[in-house]
Amino acid sequence: MALIHGGQLQRVAKAFNIAQKHWLDLSTGIAPYSYPIPTIPEYLYKDLPQEPDNLVIAAKRYYDTNNVLVTNGSQAIIKLLPVLWQTKNPKSKTVYLPEQGYKEHALAWQSAGFNLCWYQEELPPLSAIEKNAVLVVINPNNPTGKLYQRSQLKRYQSRMIETNGLFVLDEAFMDVITPSQSMATNIGNYKHTLVLRSFGKFFGLAGIRIGFLLAQQYWLKLFHEQLGPWQVNGPAQFIAENALLDTQWQQTQQSRLQQLAEKLLDTLKSNIPLECINNITGTHLFTTVYFKNTIDVEAYYIQLCQQGIYVRLTDEKTALRFGLVTPEQLERLAKALATLSK
Ligand SMILES: Cc1ncc(COP(=O)(O)O)c(C=O)c1O
Repeated sequence: MALIHGGQLQRVAKAFNIAQKHWLDLSTGIAPYSYPIPTIPEYLYKDLPQEPDNLVIAAKRYYDTNNVLVTNGSQAIIKLLPVLWQTKNPKSKTVYLPEQGYKEHALAWQSAGFNLCWYQEELPPLSAIEKNAVLVVINPNNPTGKLYQRSQLKRYQSRMIETNGLFVLDEAFMDVITPSQSMATNIGNYKHTLVLRSFGKFFGLAGIRIGFLLAQQYWLKLFHEQLGPWQVNGPAQFIAENALLDTQWQQTQQSRLQQLAEKLLDTLKSNIPLECINNITGTHLFTTVYFKNTIDVEAYYIQLCQQGIYVRLTDEKTALRFGLVTPEQLERLAKALATLSK
């Protein structure tokens, strides 16, 4: 079964019969400003990719850990993990997952035959976590923006050790959180914890498909063997290495994303009638508007699409998630929002 995600503009453009070039695509949480592509040595296109040693060095610095595996996006780990974990702990049958959140986690665990136990915003009570179970936390969550503090997560980490379970932290949007609540530091001490990091979102380069697994060497070795050679192509390695080392660009990006997120929030608040809104949440990479249950959110989504504005209708159809908008695009969004339901 293929899940619906943001992106894939081609499909939506066809459905609404509007050429791709006329769309304002706000359907993902990918930064609209991306790391500038450096001049790439020609041999990187010609040769087979080598082991990404330089990229690993850069990633160790950026993620503040010595335990790094480079992958073709964190999705590669999400897909492979359930079957691999099952071979390591055949007694494991249950996985706790956020009811709202990146659904590829649920799909992967379900396909491997696990029982899915959903939790809402609050994590399941510590004492309710069964032995040998898996706990998946998306921090901060996409699309709810819910952020769990490291102090709370530490308690869950201890529980997963006690119960011989597995703690999976998907930190795809953690780059924009200050102070960081990442669980990556000292990850080498915790065999029962895996941290997933996504490169494409903060650096605005989702197309080059880079992600990282931060975990004990035992896990890194296991996944490395499973994924096989040439996971990440040479040009992508080179670009990501440059980006992860460029702290000055990263600072600029942080403040730029913060400004864009503030402007987006203002635009949403001043153009969607307040009586329609239940709640607005998000991170500096996206904003999610939850509507009152009297509102037909799917109709809003369609109305925006008809104006060539593509946002993400959440799977529950209770909210619209907006990616960041550059200052030049704000007016177009504001005008379209102002027409909703009229
Ligand atoms: C929460 C979350 N985790 C993981 C991913 C996968 O990202 P990637 O494979 O590009 O690293 C996504 C993609 O949208 C996501 O939203």
